[in-house]
Amino acid sequence: MPNHKALFLQSKCGAWEVAEQETRKPGPGELLVRIEACGLNPIEWKIHTYGSAGPVPKSYPTVLGSDIAGVVEEVGEGVSGFAKGDRVVYQGAFENDKAGYQHYGIANVEFVAKIPSNLSFDEAATLPVAIATVATGFYGSKPHGAGLTLPVDEAGKGKYSGKPLLIIGGASSLGQSAIQFACLSGFFPILTTASPSNAGLLKSLGATHVFDRNLSTADLTAQVAEAIGDAPLELVFDTISAPPTQQAGYDLLSEGGHLIIVVPEMLKPVEGRNVTYSMVHGIWGTPFNVEIGRELHKHMTALLADGSIKPNRVEVLPGGLRGVFGGLERLKAGSVSGTKLIAHPHETD
Ligand SMILES: NC(=O)c1ccc[n+]([C@@H]2O[C@H](COP(=O)([O-])OP(=O)(O)OC[C@H]3O[C@@H](n4cnc5c(N)ncnc54)[C@H](OP(=O)(O)O)[C@@H]3O)[C@@H](O)[C@H]2O)c1
Repeated sequence: MPNHKALFLQSKCGAWEVAEQETRKPGPGELLVRIEACGLNPIEWKIHTYGSAGPVPKSYPTVLGSDIAGVVEEVGEGVSGFAKGDRVVYQGAFENDKAGYQHYGIANVEFVAKIPSNLSFDEAATLPVAIATVATGFYGSKPHGAGLTLPVDEAGKGKYSGKPLLIIGGASSLGQSAIQFACLSGFFPILTTASPSNAGLLKSLGATHVFDRNLSTADLTAQVAEAIGDAPLELVFDTISAPPTQQAGYDLLSEGGHLIIVVPEMLKPVEGRNVTYSMVHGIWGTPFNVEIGRELHKHMTALLADGSIKPNRVEVLPGGLRGVFGGLERLKAGSVSGTKLIAHPHETD
């Protein structure tokens, strides 16, 4: 195959540039995918602004983009169950040939799902990172996750019936997936925080109570207490994990409770309190996530087809890959609400 176009972040905190990238053949266990849609993620503006986020990227120039939907172009050796022309969705990796802001990318077949006919490429591309992060947060074993049972069979579906759950940031991409996985797991009531304008959307996904994200911790505590009565609050998923939301989540938990956070810990633990927390590493290829990723991917297409997991609202950015820079600035400014920004690589001039 000839070379293709990719969006490179040229250097640490440097310039974005659309340039040629080699189209490599898929190896054993891999697919080559023509990328139709790629969703934007906050980690990308963090990398651009701060130069790295945790261990990524390993080097520059780097290609980013992790929420990928497209069409299988070529199947690597030993791959079964996928064929040229299949519509697929998967989480890209922080490697130049496996990222999403380009015309073609390589996918590890273990963590690829076929897109059911009810979802467009744009809708499918809203989901992989959120699903990976939420599923590993809830169902990954401790200390990396909360150690719940995956809700894909009779043993897991509805298992936590009647237990209250608080999801901080229900309108975030992670929050919308967290609400839906919480429903599958049976949690009730499902409490969340968001801008009041997103209350209808979040209730349509399964939230029972949507509290204004600007409530003081004291007012939030009072409203949570009113909603759950005497039941202990044993689990909080903080999909925002800013210092005040981490602290609120920690403070709201009952003794013995567990807090899931998605960026490194910034809360002040209270001496003598028995509350644990785990920081999610929502990447399927991470060794401690592989098993749960394999299991969930057996059920992924069915969960998307039957509407158990619905996509985010979509806004397609103009300009193909060149639309990504402006989109990331909007994510950084916090001006995107309840919606996933999507780039179409092949619309790049
Ligand atoms: N650890 C991991 O593996 C991992 C993986 C993915 C993402 N993350 C991190 O998780 C965070 C969320 O990512 P995302 O893609 O889901 O973000 P996102 O979709 O861009 O989040 C935007 C939403 O956040 C909500 N929000 C912002 N501040 C809030 C607050 N104080 N209280 C309640 N809601 C608030 C807004 O809700 P309203 O519009 O209702 O105001 C907005 O709709 C980011 O920091 C990201 O870097 C971590």
